[in-house]
Amino acid sequence: SALPGLLARAPKAELHMHIEGSLEPELSFQLAARHGITLPYASVEALREAMDFEDLQSFLNLYYACADVLRTEDDFFELGWAYFQRAAADGIVHAEIFFDPQTHTARGVPMGAVILGLHRASEQARRQLGLSSSLILCFLRHLSEEEALQTLEAALPYREFFIGVGLDSAERDHPPAKFERVFAWARTLGLHVVAHAGEEGPAAYVEQALDLLHAERIDHGVRSIDSPALMQRLAHEGVPLTVCPLSNLKLCVVPDLAEHPLPQLLAAGLRVTINSDDPAYFGGYLLDNFRALFDALPQWGAAEAYALLRNSLQASFVAPEQKVAWM
Ligand code: ADE
Ligand code: ZN
Repeated sequence: SALPGLLARAPKAELHMHIEGSLEPELSFQLAARHGITLPYASVEALREAMDFEDLQSFLNLYYACADVLRTEDDFFELGWAYFQRAAADGIVHAEIFFDPQTHTARGVPMGAVILGLHRASEQARRQLGLSSSLILCFLRHLSEEEALQTLEAALPYREFFIGVGLDSAERDHPPAKFERVFAWARTLGLHVVAHAGEEGPAAYVEQALDLLHAERIDHGVRSIDSPALMQRLAHEGVPLTVCPLSNLKLCVVPDLAEHPLPQLLAAGLRVTINSDDPAYFGGYLLDNFRALFDALPQWGAAEAYALLRNSLQASFVAPEQKVAWM
């Protein structure tokens, strides 16, 4: 099946995109030159060739290495602004963006440089592109809960600039249960809560994210397919899943897009959305994900396309009136 042409311009939201994962090799080399940093790759082409992953960890190694070029508030502004321009070109009207402060504060970058740089890009996108956006602060799950608590505390002076917290990085052996206290604190601060679960980890981690963290959305969640009881629960409770097809393909979560569980998830009544995760690393932005998916799934047509778009707007954290205005 072909992606209906109208879909390209239809209003859509992106709810699962790590801003550090939108760092294109060209910008990496520009920022490295600006700061006198030598990247462990000879050229943009050599860095692109290194984007051949066997699992989540092999990707994370490169992703954290490249993030080293992000040093100043202006760097974060440029990173954000580059993404917003691409997002607007894909018909994205609203984006809820993840950032990983610990990747930067651990290198001595001030929390304020990260958040204020991204916030400035977000404001410019609203004014110049008509694209609204919000920031979601993610805790790195391979680090301790103590470090997550310290990170949330360090971000409190900037509380007005982010709307929620999330949980990302290496999933295996780092269950949601490890972060119960920091998520409870975030909820008392009025923050939204989401969590990566069921990407490489088991369906039981999705259940923990719901029961222990009270996650309002599950990022990825594709391993829910292994548990009929969980599938029923997700459908019944209307929990959105932010699924990332090209990411799943590149990180070998699925062998082929034609074998992606998305058709079963959608048919079972789950509120699935399509997202790009780390577009600079996985071969494409949001429309590229839609195109690749629809090319691989001949049984899908306009009905599925519109259901996925409607879900993305519906599952966002914007006010109900704004959702009505979009639809
Ligand atoms: N950080 C950036 N992308 C991620 C992903 N797909 N899973 C876990 N952590 C991430
Ligand atoms: Zn992700």
